[in-house]
Amino acid sequence: MASPSEAIGQTKTSGQRPQTKILVDGGDPEETIRIKELIGFVDGQTTNPSLIAKNPEIRRLVESGHQLTEQEEAAEYRKIVQAVSPLVGDAGVSIEVFADLNTTAEEMLRQGREMYTWIPNAYVKYPCTAEGLKAVQRSVAEGIRVNITLCFSQQQAAAVYAATKGTRTPAYVSPFVGRLDDIGQNGVDLLRNIKRMFDQSDHHVHMLAASIRSVQQLLYTFHVRSELVTVPAKVLEQWAKQGMPLPGDDFEYKPVGAEIPYEPLNLGQPWEQFNIEHELTRKGIQKFVADYKATLRKAS
Ligand code: E4P
Repeated sequence: MASPSEAIGQTKTSGQRPQTKILVDGGDPEETIRIKELIGFVDGQTTNPSLIAKNPEIRRLVESGHQLTEQEEAAEYRKIVQAVSPLVGDAGVSIEVFADLNTTAEEMLRQGREMYTWIPNAYVKYPCTAEGLKAVQRSVAEGIRVNITLCFSQQQAAAVYAATKGTRTPAYVSPFVGRLDDIGQNGVDLLRNIKRMFDQSDHHVHMLAASIRSVQQLLYTFHVRSELVTVPAKVLEQWAKQGMPLPGDDFEYKPVGAEIPYEPLNLGQPWEQFNIEHELTRKGIQKFVADYKATLRKAS
């Protein structure tokens, strides 16, 4: 019978922990506990409005017809991250502000300041938009740890770099692999390009690979030495079942779409000079808003 490493090829099973920090991409503390028992550690956690809407307690409330106000939804979110907070290591727990396409930097910052007090290891997640980056700049100046989400291009990652200069702790940028695959691109190329760009930097931004849909993508994040990766429980369960392999020296990733070429960019520019527009960032915001509002609407 083939060993797990032979079965998936170009990998080696290993009792070793990857250098890349592993975060659980979810909104249910029970799931985090299960994964921690399964793989032996969890470095951190990321949440977002869609994942919070799927939390079993929130679903139970909604299905029982209870009308959640925005304040109650925030209180539930707080309860969830307070339960997750002590379970994870030093990569912290990312908490995402509720923002639609019209939300101002001021409003995002108001939420971010509040969310940051919920737990001692919080990272506030802001969208990679102009208003989001203004909120990020002010958060960094106040010493709030940040994670800039819905990143789909190297230019956006460069803008994050410029907007977070002077941060006291590493800022996270979250490039979304799976959603780029969904539009016919080879999503992991963005990880490779961002790492290459940041190789010649002061390293105040850490890459947190997101929207991971398969064990191969997870192995790719190890292969490019992403500082962090956030992974749904389902993929971590598959990885554990295969013996928690790490990529071998001859690791190869079969492209799933068109190549995303590397762009030479000047990281010394102000963030406003980068092109931060991306269709998927707008769509991502709209999806988060829809999932968040659905929990409120269904409850009424
Ligand atoms: C994490 O920060 C992201 O919100 C998450 O990875 C998105 O994943 P998805 O594209 O599978 O929704």
